[in-house]
Amino acid sequence: MPHPQDTQHRPIWPGIAGSIALVTGASSGLGAHFATLLAEQGAQVVATARRLERVETLCTGLQARGLAARPMALDVTAPAEVRAAMAEIAPDLVVNNAGVSHSCPALELTSETLDAVIDTNIKGVFTVAQAAAANMRHRASGGAIVNVASILGSRVAGQVAAYAASKGAVLQMTRALALEWARHGIRVNALSPGYIETDLNQDFFASDAGQALIRRVPMRRLGRPEDLDGPLLLLLSDLGRAMTGADLVVDGGHLVSSL
Ligand code: NAI
Repeated sequence: MPHPQDTQHRPIWPGIAGSIALVTGASSGLGAHFATLLAEQGAQVVATARRLERVETLCTGLQARGLAARPMALDVTAPAEVRAAMAEIAPDLVVNNAGVSHSCPALELTSETLDAVIDTNIKGVFTVAQAAAANMRHRASGGAIVNVASILGSRVAGQVAAYAASKGAVLQMTRALALEWARHGIRVNALSPGYIETDLNQDFFASDAGQALIRRVPMRRLGRPEDLDGPLLLLLSDLGRAMTGADLVVDGGHLVSSL
């Protein structure tokens, strides 16, 4: 059970507390943030990643706060591993967060890199969603899946052809799965962050090029991981119960920047 001081002043989103929530790629960045958020909302979180020791550390910290979290090793590009994990955990909520990015001119993109991006960002997302839904379909309560896409799935930037193509595929996959699985009570939505400031890109955004990029964002700011909290919880909770096939964009207006 969450410690009272962890949930104080936080809205309680119906359908989250007590549910089993699985997050992929939870060893760093947004995945670790999402796992923490869901644990704070009273979910029983399964924080998965390829590097077990990283999610073990995360879960130990959450457990020390009285929150429910368990670590699990999971590579989203290993279908048998994914299916076994979903059969064992039977999550009610899934955050399909694991992803890889790659930046280089399209003329220099190798077949190996293209495969790696497709394997994780498209096939991995599909495998996780399919294995989760195979279990959810047998439950009256259904389930909710959020696929983490990107504004690069809707518009493009230079040097990210493989990544942008993969996130565009995630958006269309989300719609296709939402259509097929609505009859089973399974909702599938996409969350599309704009540029989010993390430890990894802080230096870039402090540079002239980074500052110029921020000036092109209508709200003149970068995103922060916590900007995604309300949108993610809406998509997963009962308050979003009629939402499926949606792409929830959280980007300070970047997608609607002036052409
Ligand atoms: P990150 O690199 O910190 O997180 C990605 C996570 O996915 C890592 O923990 C990584 O180990 C994991 N991962 C990669 N391949 C995996 C595999 N085969 N199996 C399991 N886990 C695997 O980056 P970040 O920023 O936290 O990204 C999380 C998601 O958010 C990604 O899908 C990314 O494309 C998306 N995103 C991030 C934005 C940002 O500005 N940070 C903006 C838009 C989307």
